[in-house]
Amino acid sequence: MKNNKIVVVKNLKKYFEDVKAVDDISFEVNSGEVFGLLGPNGAGKTTTIKLLLGLLAPDEGDVSVLGMDPVIEDIEIKKRIGYVSEEPLIFKSLTPRDLFNFIASIRHLNATTTSERVSEYMDSFGALEYYDNLIATLSHGNKQKIQIIAAILHDPDLLVLDEPLAGLDAKSVRVFKEILELHTNNGGSILFSTHIMEVAQDLCDRIAIINKGKIVGIGTMEELRLKADKLGAKLEDVFLRLTEQDTSVNEIVNKLRASYTKKNYI
Ligand SMILES: Nc1ncnc2c1ncn2[C@@H]1O[C@H](COP(=O)(O)OP(=O)(O)OP(=O)(O)O)[C@@H](O)[C@H]1O
Ligand SMILES: [Mg+2]
Repeated sequence: MKNNKIVVVKNLKKYFEDVKAVDDISFEVNSGEVFGLLGPNGAGKTTTIKLLLGLLAPDEGDVSVLGMDPVIEDIEIKKRIGYVSEEPLIFKSLTPRDLFNFIASIRHLNATTTSERVSEYMDSFGALEYYDNLIATLSHGNKQKIQIIAAILHDPDLLVLDEPLAGLDAKSVRVFKEILELHTNNGGSILFSTHIMEVAQDLCDRIAIINKGKIVGIGTMEELRLKADKLGAKLEDVFLRLTEQDTSVNEIVNKLRASYTKKNYI
């Protein structure tokens, strides 16, 4: 790809009344890169992702995805992006087979090749037996597998994944990692969000740590680790400190313990 910046975000802001969901963030995703947005609940990850997809319009700042403005060129961008949303699949009254056929038709994919690919993915995820069951009847993890397959069928230039591991069992996580690797080996890029540091560490080339709408650390795992070393701490501790979770967790645990002891639960 000519433009090696797949995503460029500059001074982006999105407020919901007095909630500063995204508060002046800037970052870039390079071609072929796996980029992670890592932060606690409510940090602004999903809002950032929705801004990248044109599902929300920014209050201030610039967003460019595959060289386009997501608000103006949303249809063109959606053709070239695969998206796994945080919410469960909406096509609940379809079976996976119906859904994949529908995707193949609207994305003008070759029916035979798509059907072969889908079968391979379904088989790898151990989900072949659910092929003709209604999506509404599937478990959370199995719905997530369907959503992942649906997002990659058209070989998008950019995969955008909002908490993609939610609900996946260990074997499926392994399969999912393999799919991501095949995607990047094939020239694709990935942006995903997670609140779990180990996941970011395991999968990402670069990470932006986000807290309360602000990026509080950005770089490769090695760069972030070096920064942590300079501070004389482990990266895990620095992550918790940057996202203000260290003291609060201890305080909460102590409070809970005190409350339980008082009430003689233990
Ligand atoms: N439509 C909305 N209206 C009002 N406030 C919103 C809206 N969407 C998000 N927010 C608020 O913006 C902040 C960031 O939310 P966001 O969903 O982006 O967080 P997140 O990092 O994805 O969290 P999680 O890990 O829980 O998914 C939160 O305080 C949230 O309550
Ligand atoms: Mg979210």
